[in-house]
Amino acid sequence: MSKSIKTILGVMLMCVSISALSSVGVKLDTANTDISDNNSLQNGAKLFMNYCSGCHSLSFMRYNRLAEDLNIPKEDVVTNLMFNAEKIGDTINATMPTEGANKWFGGTPPDLSLVARYKGVDWIYTYLRSFYPDDSRPYGVNNHVFQNVSMPDILLELKRTTPKDEFNSKVRDIVNFLDYVGEPAKLVRSAIGTKVLAFLLLLLVLAYLLKKEYWKDVKYGKWRAKD
Ligand code: HEC
Repeated sequence: MSKSIKTILGVMLMCVSISALSSVGVKLDTANTDISDNNSLQNGAKLFMNYCSGCHSLSFMRYNRLAEDLNIPKEDVVTNLMFNAEKIGDTINATMPTEGANKWFGGTPPDLSLVARYKGVDWIYTYLRSFYPDDSRPYGVNNHVFQNVSMPDILLELKRTTPKDEFNSKVRDIVNFLDYVGEPAKLVRSAIGTKVLAFLLLLLVLAYLLKKEYWKDVKYGKWRAKD
Protein backbone atom coordinates (compact mmCIF):
# COMPACT_ATOMS: atom_id res chain seq x y z
CA MET A 1 0.00 0.00 0.00
CA SER A 2 1.46 3.36 -0.94
CA LYS A 3 2.30 5.90 1.71
CA SER A 4 -0.31 8.44 0.66
CA ILE A 5 -3.12 5.85 0.78
CA LYS A 6 -2.01 4.89 4.27
CA THR A 7 -2.04 8.55 5.33
CA ILE A 8 -5.53 9.04 3.92
CA LEU A 9 -6.80 5.92 5.68
CA GLY A 10 -5.19 7.09 8.91
CA VAL A 11 -6.86 10.49 8.76
CA MET A 12 -10.21 8.88 7.96
CA LEU A 13 -9.89 6.57 10.95
CA MET A 14 -9.01 9.52 13.17
CA CYS A 15 -12.09 11.46 12.01
CA VAL A 16 -14.33 8.49 12.69
CA SER A 17 -12.94 8.00 16.19
CA ILE A 18 -13.14 11.72 17.00
CA SER A 19 -16.78 11.91 15.94
CA ALA A 20 -17.50 8.74 17.91
CA LEU A 21 -15.80 10.20 21.00
CA SER A 22 -17.58 13.54 20.79
CA SER A 23 -20.96 11.89 21.10
CA VAL A 24 -20.03 9.82 24.14
CA GLY A 25 -22.04 10.65 27.26
CA VAL A 26 -25.31 11.99 25.97
CA LYS A 27 -27.54 9.98 23.74
CA LEU A 28 -29.28 12.29 21.29
CA ASP A 29 -32.83 11.58 20.15
CA THR A 30 -33.41 11.51 16.42
CA ALA A 31 -35.23 14.64 15.31
CA ASN A 32 -36.68 13.08 12.13
CA THR A 33 -37.24 16.48 10.61
CA ASP A 34 -38.35 16.84 7.02
CA ILE A 35 -37.51 20.10 5.32
CA SER A 36 -39.92 19.37 2.46
CA ASP A 37 -42.86 19.35 4.89
CA ASN A 38 -44.16 22.88 4.42
CA ASN A 39 -46.84 22.65 7.13
CA SER A 40 -44.19 21.71 9.64
CA LEU A 41 -41.98 24.63 8.55
CA GLN A 42 -44.88 27.10 8.79
CA ASN A 43 -45.81 25.83 12.22
CA GLY A 44 -42.16 25.95 13.30
CA ALA A 45 -41.88 29.56 12.14
CA LYS A 46 -44.95 30.51 14.17
CA LEU A 47 -43.69 28.70 17.29
CA PHE A 48 -40.22 30.23 16.90
CA MET A 49 -41.61 33.75 16.63
CA ASN A 50 -43.81 33.17 19.67
CA TYR A 51 -41.39 31.39 21.98
CA CYS A 52 -37.86 32.20 20.87
CA SER A 53 -37.64 35.48 18.96
CA GLY A 54 -37.85 37.54 22.14
CA CYS A 55 -34.29 36.46 22.91
CA HIS A 56 -32.81 34.92 19.76
CA SER A 57 -32.25 36.63 16.42
CA LEU A 58 -32.12 34.99 13.01
CA SER A 59 -30.01 37.71 11.49
CA PHE A 60 -29.49 35.90 8.17
CA MET A 61 -33.22 35.59 7.49
CA ARG A 62 -35.65 38.24 6.30
CA TYR A 63 -39.41 38.12 6.77
CA ASN A 64 -40.14 38.48 3.06
CA ARG A 65 -37.86 35.55 2.17
CA LEU A 66 -39.70 33.50 4.79
CA ALA A 67 -43.03 34.43 3.21
CA GLU A 68 -41.79 33.41 -0.22
CA ASP A 69 -40.05 30.15 0.72
CA LEU A 70 -42.78 28.84 3.02
CA ASN A 71 -45.70 30.04 0.87
CA ILE A 72 -47.12 32.24 3.59
CA PRO A 73 -49.15 35.21 2.28
CA LYS A 74 -47.36 38.49 3.09
CA GLU A 75 -50.37 39.80 5.10
CA ASP A 76 -50.23 36.72 7.32
CA VAL A 77 -46.53 37.20 7.93
CA VAL A 78 -47.17 40.78 9.00
CA THR A 79 -50.03 39.93 11.35
CA ASN A 80 -48.89 36.57 12.73
CA LEU A 81 -45.10 36.58 12.68
CA MET A 82 -43.77 40.12 12.77
CA PHE A 83 -43.66 41.14 16.41
CA ASN A 84 -40.16 42.56 16.34
CA ALA A 85 -39.89 44.32 13.00
CA GLU A 86 -41.16 47.38 11.25
CA LYS A 87 -40.81 46.32 7.65
CA ILE A 88 -41.26 43.03 5.79
CA GLY A 89 -37.74 43.37 4.34
CA ASP A 90 -36.18 43.40 7.84
CA THR A 91 -34.07 40.58 9.23
CA ILE A 92 -35.48 38.69 12.21
CA ASN A 93 -33.99 40.41 15.24
CA ALA A 94 -34.54 39.65 18.89
CA THR A 95 -36.56 42.17 20.84
CA MET A 96 -34.30 41.89 23.86
CA PRO A 97 -31.94 44.83 24.48
CA THR A 98 -28.25 43.86 24.69
CA GLU A 99 -27.69 45.50 28.12
CA GLY A 100 -30.64 43.60 29.54
CA ALA A 101 -29.36 40.35 28.09
CA ASN A 102 -25.96 40.83 29.68
CA LYS A 103 -27.54 41.48 33.06
CA TRP A 104 -30.10 38.65 32.92
CA PHE A 105 -28.13 35.89 31.21
CA GLY A 106 -24.50 36.97 31.51
CA GLY A 107 -24.39 37.42 27.74
CA THR A 108 -26.52 37.91 24.67
CA PRO A 109 -28.49 34.81 23.63
CA PRO A 110 -26.73 33.51 20.51
CA ASP A 111 -28.04 34.18 17.02
CA LEU A 112 -29.71 30.97 15.81
CA SER A 113 -29.33 31.49 12.04
CA LEU A 114 -26.76 28.74 11.73
CA VAL A 115 -27.32 26.73 14.89
CA ALA A 116 -28.70 23.72 12.98
CA ARG A 117 -25.47 23.65 10.96
CA TYR A 118 -23.05 23.57 13.88
CA LYS A 119 -25.09 21.70 16.50
CA GLY A 120 -27.18 19.48 14.26
CA VAL A 121 -30.94 18.93 14.36
CA ASP A 122 -30.76 15.98 16.76
CA TRP A 123 -28.84 18.04 19.31
CA ILE A 124 -31.36 20.93 19.25
CA TYR A 125 -34.31 18.52 19.38
CA THR A 126 -32.84 16.76 22.41
CA TYR A 127 -31.70 20.01 24.06
CA LEU A 128 -35.15 21.63 23.99
CA ARG A 129 -36.64 18.52 25.64
CA SER A 130 -33.87 17.94 28.22
CA PHE A 131 -34.40 20.64 30.83
CA TYR A 132 -34.71 19.40 34.42
CA PRO A 133 -35.29 21.15 37.78
CA ASP A 134 -32.07 22.25 39.52
CA ASP A 135 -32.36 24.74 42.37
CA SER A 136 -28.69 25.67 42.24
CA ARG A 137 -29.21 27.40 38.88
CA PRO A 138 -30.49 31.00 38.49
CA TYR A 139 -33.64 29.90 36.62
CA GLY A 140 -34.13 26.73 38.66
CA VAL A 141 -33.40 24.51 35.65
CA ASN A 142 -30.44 22.72 34.14
CA ASN A 143 -30.06 20.75 30.93
CA HIS A 144 -28.80 17.24 30.24
CA VAL A 145 -27.09 18.08 26.95
CA PHE A 146 -26.00 21.62 27.90
CA GLN A 147 -24.75 21.62 31.48
CA ASN A 148 -25.27 24.89 33.41
CA VAL A 149 -27.08 26.50 30.53
CA SER A 150 -28.24 30.06 31.10
CA MET A 151 -31.43 29.71 29.03
CA PRO A 152 -34.65 29.21 31.02
CA ASP A 153 -36.94 26.31 30.13
CA ILE A 154 -39.06 28.36 27.76
CA LEU A 155 -41.24 25.45 26.65
CA LEU A 156 -42.07 24.25 30.18
CA GLU A 157 -45.62 25.59 30.14
CA LEU A 158 -46.24 24.09 26.70
CA LYS A 159 -44.81 20.76 27.91
CA ARG A 160 -47.12 20.76 30.94
CA THR A 161 -50.24 21.50 28.97
CA THR A 162 -49.67 19.39 25.85
CA PRO A 163 -49.77 15.60 25.39
CA LYS A 164 -46.25 14.20 24.96
CA ASP A 165 -46.53 13.26 21.26
CA GLU A 166 -47.97 16.61 20.36
CA PHE A 167 -45.27 18.42 22.34
CA ASN A 168 -42.52 16.43 20.60
CA SER A 169 -44.03 17.18 17.24
CA LYS A 170 -44.12 20.92 18.04
CA VAL A 171 -40.45 20.85 19.07
CA ARG A 172 -39.72 18.92 15.86
CA ASP A 173 -41.38 21.72 13.85
CA ILE A 174 -39.22 24.36 15.56
CA VAL A 175 -36.09 22.32 14.81
CA ASN A 176 -37.21 21.75 11.22
CA PHE A 177 -37.67 25.50 10.84
CA LEU A 178 -34.17 26.15 12.23
CA ASP A 179 -32.78 23.57 9.80
CA TYR A 180 -34.40 25.46 6.92
CA VAL A 181 -33.09 28.81 8.24
CA GLY A 182 -29.58 27.34 8.44
CA GLU A 183 -29.64 26.59 4.73
CA PRO A 184 -32.67 28.00 2.87
CA ALA A 185 -31.17 26.85 -0.44
CA LYS A 186 -31.69 23.27 0.72
CA LEU A 187 -35.34 23.51 -0.38
CA VAL A 188 -34.31 24.36 -3.93
CA ARG A 189 -31.19 22.20 -3.89
CA SER A 190 -33.05 18.97 -3.12
CA ALA A 191 -35.71 19.69 -5.74
CA ILE A 192 -33.09 20.43 -8.40
CA GLY A 193 -31.10 17.36 -7.35
CA THR A 194 -33.99 15.01 -8.13
CA LYS A 195 -34.52 16.61 -11.53
CA VAL A 196 -30.81 16.43 -12.37
CA LEU A 197 -30.72 12.73 -11.47
CA ALA A 198 -33.81 12.03 -13.58
CA PHE A 199 -32.20 13.87 -16.48
CA LEU A 200 -28.96 11.90 -16.12
CA LEU A 201 -30.90 8.66 -16.06
CA LEU A 202 -32.69 9.58 -19.28
CA LEU A 203 -29.35 10.56 -20.80
CA LEU A 204 -27.92 7.19 -19.80
CA VAL A 205 -30.68 5.34 -21.66
CA LEU A 206 -30.24 7.51 -24.76
CA ALA A 207 -26.45 7.17 -24.66
CA TYR A 208 -26.77 3.39 -24.36
CA LEU A 209 -29.15 3.18 -27.32
CA LEU A 210 -26.82 5.44 -29.32
CA LYS A 211 -23.83 3.28 -28.43
CA LYS A 212 -25.69 0.18 -29.58
CA GLU A 213 -26.56 1.89 -32.84
CA TYR A 214 -22.92 2.92 -33.49
CA TRP A 215 -21.47 -0.44 -32.60
CA LYS A 216 -23.86 -2.18 -34.97
CA ASP A 217 -21.98 -0.42 -37.78
CA VAL A 218 -18.57 -1.03 -36.25
CA LYS A 219 -19.25 -4.72 -35.81
CA TYR A 220 -21.09 -5.54 -39.01
CA GLY A 221 -21.20 -2.36 -41.03
CA LYS A 222 -19.25 -1.02 -43.90
CA TRP A 223 -15.99 -1.11 -41.90
CA ARG A 224 -16.06 -4.80 -41.25
CA ALA A 225 -17.50 -7.79 -43.01
CA LYS A 226 -20.10 -9.87 -41.19
CA ASP A 227 -18.54 -12.79 -39.27
C1 HEC B 1 -35.45 34.22 27.80
C2 HEC B 1 -34.54 34.22 26.70
C3 HEC B 1 -34.50 32.99 25.80
C4 HEC B 1 -35.57 32.44 25.11
C5 HEC B 1 -37.01 32.93 25.07
C6 HEC B 1 -35.04 31.33 24.37
N1 HEC B 1 -33.70 31.21 24.61
FE1 HEC B 1 -32.43 29.89 23.72
N2 HEC B 1 -30.88 30.61 24.79
C7 HEC B 1 -30.95 31.69 25.65
C8 HEC B 1 -29.63 31.93 26.22
C9 HEC B 1 -29.28 33.01 27.23
C10 HEC B 1 -28.77 30.95 25.65
C11 HEC B 1 -27.27 30.79 25.90
C12 HEC B 1 -27.10 29.69 26.90
C13 HEC B 1 -25.69 29.57 27.41
O1 HEC B 1 -24.74 29.85 26.65
O2 HEC B 1 -25.56 29.19 28.58
C14 HEC B 1 -29.59 30.15 24.75
C15 HEC B 1 -29.10 29.09 23.99
C16 HEC B 1 -29.83 28.40 23.05
C17 HEC B 1 -29.30 27.38 22.18
C18 HEC B 1 -27.87 26.88 22.13
C19 HEC B 1 -27.15 27.70 21.10
C20 HEC B 1 -25.69 27.42 21.02
O3 HEC B 1 -25.05 28.02 20.15
O4 HEC B 1 -25.17 26.63 21.83
C21 HEC B 1 -30.33 26.95 21.38
C22 HEC B 1 -30.28 25.89 20.29
C23 HEC B 1 -31.50 27.70 21.79
N3 HEC B 1 -31.16 28.58 22.78
C24 HEC B 1 -32.74 27.54 21.21
C25 HEC B 1 -33.88 28.21 21.62
C26 HEC B 1 -35.18 27.99 21.04
C27 HEC B 1 -35.49 27.03 19.90
C28 HEC B 1 -36.04 28.80 21.71
C29 HEC B 1 -37.53 28.88 21.53
C30 HEC B 1 -38.26 27.68 21.75
C31 HEC B 1 -35.26 29.56 22.69
N4 HEC B 1 -33.95 29.17 22.60
C32 HEC B 1 -35.79 30.52 23.53
C33 HEC B 1 -32.07 32.43 25.96
C34 HEC B 1 -33.34 32.20 25.48
